[in-house]
Amino acid sequence: MNRSRVIHRNLRAAPPPIAAGGHGVWLTHADGREVLDASGGAAVSCLGHQHQRVIEAIRRQAETLAYAHTGFFSSTAAEMLAETLVGHEPGGLAYAYFVSGGSEAIEAALKMARQYFVEVGQPGRCHFIARRQSYHGNTLGALALGGNAWRRAPYAPLLSDAFSHVSPAFAYREQRPDETEAGFTARLAAELEAEFQRVGPAKVAAFVAEPVVGATAGCVPAPAGYFRAVRDICDRHGALLILDEVMCGMGRTGTLHAWEQEGISPDLQAVAKGLGGGYQPIGALLAAARVVDALRDGSGAFQHGHTYLAHPLACAAALAVQQVIREDRLLDRVRVQGNLLDQGLTERFGNHPHIGDIRGRGLFRGLELVADRASRRPFDPALKLHARVKQAAFDRGLACYPSGGTVDGVRGDHVLLAPPYIVSDDEIAMIVDRLGGAIDAALADIRSAGVNP
Ligand SMILES: Cc1ncc(COP(=O)(O)O)c(C=O)c1O
Repeated sequence: MNRSRVIHRNLRAAPPPIAAGGHGVWLTHADGREVLDASGGAAVSCLGHQHQRVIEAIRRQAETLAYAHTGFFSSTAAEMLAETLVGHEPGGLAYAYFVSGGSEAIEAALKMARQYFVEVGQPGRCHFIARRQSYHGNTLGALALGGNAWRRAPYAPLLSDAFSHVSPAFAYREQRPDETEAGFTARLAAELEAEFQRVGPAKVAAFVAEPVVGATAGCVPAPAGYFRAVRDICDRHGALLILDEVMCGMGRTGTLHAWEQEGISPDLQAVAKGLGGGYQPIGALLAAARVVDALRDGSGAFQHGHTYLAHPLACAAALAVQQVIREDRLLDRVRVQGNLLDQGLTERFGNHPHIGDIRGRGLFRGLELVADRASRRPFDPALKLHARVKQAAFDRGLACYPSGGTVDGVRGDHVLLAPPYIVSDDEIAMIVDRLGGAIDAALADIRSAGVNP
């Protein structure tokens, strides 16, 4: 098919190939060729493709009840999914609000934080602090919250000034050569404190961050002590801490929530991708009891909503995905296979002249490409190295998730890997091997075009 009436991501190129099927970590082209899905799309397919237990759960729910509006009914699937997710974790998250994806979960978090302060008699709190080089979604509130320059640029006039941004906790790019990790953490904390003071501490509703930054920077965990420091600052000023685990959550980093590795917990948390594993579109806002209790004791309702809140099919699929993760002990597997992937990447790219950094946690790993390792100089963005790597990998039967703008939203290239939790040792070896071939081919490609990195 050369022409398509679907508005695809790239409107100039030929329409993308049709994905005709899948099994395990593999996706199948309509012509039968197989592609190893090394990023689960965008860190979505945590169980891989066509997992029979999940498909069976969707079938059973569809045969029972496909949809009932939440203005009239709840569903057993939604109730059971909430029981599974909250109420017994460390950290006190007690309630879940089910939406259709990550951006909707973030919008719900912003609005619940704002409404919380209206209900508790602090209506002056209407400002949100986030970080540069973050991504929180593409709806207007989430886009304004995010700190990614190129995604924001065309829509800047539509974005509210209720949001401001501090430096990302991105050691490879932001930590000074003469600075210790503790010194870096202290500097970032001082900057956040200064931003609270600039805005006026009584005006800040929340600080929002991804515990491990995903799409914009390529799997960047924070330095030790960072999240304890920001939790302290929020508490001291009476602001909420909202964590965006849309990409890094639901087991991706080796614990169900990435914040479990930071010794803190949030007041509100957004999850999505790994929640439903791609079997249905679903996201969730998880909320601490004190926030929901304040709404209950105040106006009595969360003033928000969508037609497809807590969709029974989506909740049934997510419930099955979470049951498989638990019953098959996949968090243990994420840790073991994550170490294996890290080891493979380090062996293959540790001395590569154009790989500056290998980072991440669990099965959430990033490689940053640099023109020069010593100075960490990125490639010229006009070369679109990340796009070349993506194409070269796809040509070799590997789907990975490279992006540009790693350094500042414009400069820099990275590759993000987020394979399904069921990935085998052999498949990890294949990922490393095919990615190595793709990166070397993309670099050869720019050299043959006469560019010397
Ligand atoms: C950290 C983070 N937050 C929010 C979103 C938005 O999620 P969605 O694309 O499901 O709206 C994404 C999507 O990539 C994300 O990575």
